[in-house]
Amino acid sequence: MQKIKIGLLGFGTVGSGVWKILQENKKIIGKNCGYEVEVSKILVQDMTKKRDGIEQKDIFTDNPKDILEDPAIEIVIEVMGGIEPAREYILKAIENRKHIVTANKALIATHGDQLIHAAKKAQVELCYEASVAGGIPIIHAIKESLSANRIYNIMGILNGTTNYILSKMTAENMDFETALKEAQGKGYAEADPTSDVEGHDAVYKLTILARLAFGSYVHFEDVYREGITKITPIDIEYAKELGYVIKLLAIAKEEEGKIALRVHPTFVPQQHPLAAVGDAFNAVFVKGNAVGDLMFYGRGAGDLPTGSAVLGDLINIIKKKDLQKRLYENGFDQNSKRVIRMEENQSEYYVRLLVKDVPGVFGKVATEFGRHGVSLSSVIQKGREEPSVSLVFVTHETTEQNVQMAIKDIVNISEVVKLANLIRVEKMS
Ligand SMILES: NC(=O)c1ccc[n+]([C@@H]2O[C@H](COP(=O)([O-])OP(=O)(O)OC[C@H]3O[C@@H](n4cnc5c(N)ncnc54)[C@H](OP(=O)(O)O)[C@@H]3O)[C@@H](O)[C@H]2O)c1
Repeated sequence: MQKIKIGLLGFGTVGSGVWKILQENKKIIGKNCGYEVEVSKILVQDMTKKRDGIEQKDIFTDNPKDILEDPAIEIVIEVMGGIEPAREYILKAIENRKHIVTANKALIATHGDQLIHAAKKAQVELCYEASVAGGIPIIHAIKESLSANRIYNIMGILNGTTNYILSKMTAENMDFETALKEAQGKGYAEADPTSDVEGHDAVYKLTILARLAFGSYVHFEDVYREGITKITPIDIEYAKELGYVIKLLAIAKEEEGKIALRVHPTFVPQQHPLAAVGDAFNAVFVKGNAVGDLMFYGRGAGDLPTGSAVLGDLINIIKKKDLQKRLYENGFDQNSKRVIRMEENQSEYYVRLLVKDVPGVFGKVATEFGRHGVSLSSVIQKGREEPSVSLVFVTHETTEQNVQMAIKDIVNISEVVKLANLIRVEKMS
């Protein structure tokens, strides 16, 4: 069997997963791509680090030129993470006519357009399946298998860490801090969990999916973002009582040529398939005008699941190489669809207020909602947090602007202590 040489940039969680799969599934991979895949060099930062399971110590280098400028290396796998120098290295590899596979969501979301154009110009492939939802082949599904559809709705649980935290909080009545500590103990959350718990990671992934699904250039800063740090066990209990589960959803919807892009905690009906996605799993719910509803479910991180996606891309590139015909990304239709402002967003809302336990307060709050055109579908009042009580409202569908203006006036009512939480209730149909 002929050999094909590849270079790895990075040998951390994902890089070592790629290596393990290449060893373990050598025969299957060879059969599926028609070549023996040989890793020529691996770029790392710390040459003194112990690397288990690798005998050829000279395979490691800390000089990127050993990979980027080696003419024998045809494909470069970037699994080092971060923006720089990953961007610089990928551009250099592209300039040297090497195909690229990357798992780097932050890089693709922030500089994807530049990299895609460079790859197109150099007539090389740039693949990034592992950048969204780890092992779930959602990018291939959207780009290839669903390409006869107009995709108009994507709702994803795209961050395993936050899903683990919310699942723990829901199942075991834990508070956020305790659940976060557990997630860190299990290796699901980083020491600095900001990117996950504040929703940045999900924003990057949603940006990538929305570009592909809507064929429209989307800037990651256009995505509305709210993390899960404000979710309390009380909100989770009310959600249960009202028939919902709280999930951090990444939502991309297209309606009448405009797109809505948001990442925020969301009330998901208990009977919806996304509500059953527990632990650190990821899931992506997609609606296409021909295929209808689809749900993809699996592991969104980890060495082997992510390595599986990286190597799927690698095998596809090798297969295409022999077809003499390359399929290039067409680039995006710049600004063809307007991203709607969050104020225009339509949703139902769960609003929990802390109020003084005195008569008449419900009437005053309801009047303010009414004055701003917000009608109410449910109200729950219970004396749980003495001396204040929680007053919970679920609204009918209204705009973000209406609800925010109503809240602004409601928090000024003298009997209202504070807005304890506001969570969007997603319409799933
Ligand atoms: N972890 C996951 O489950 C997962 C899932 C999906 C996508 N991803 C993405 O995959 C990428 C890699 O993630 P990871 O978790 O595998 O990262 P990681 O464990 O931190 O590994 C990073 C690797 O890159 C090397 N590296 C970092 N900066 C370098 C530099 N400037 N020069 C040379 N080598 C450098 C490190 O070298 P040393 O070993 O010498 O420190 C290490 O081997 C990221 O973009 C991440 O977002 C990860």
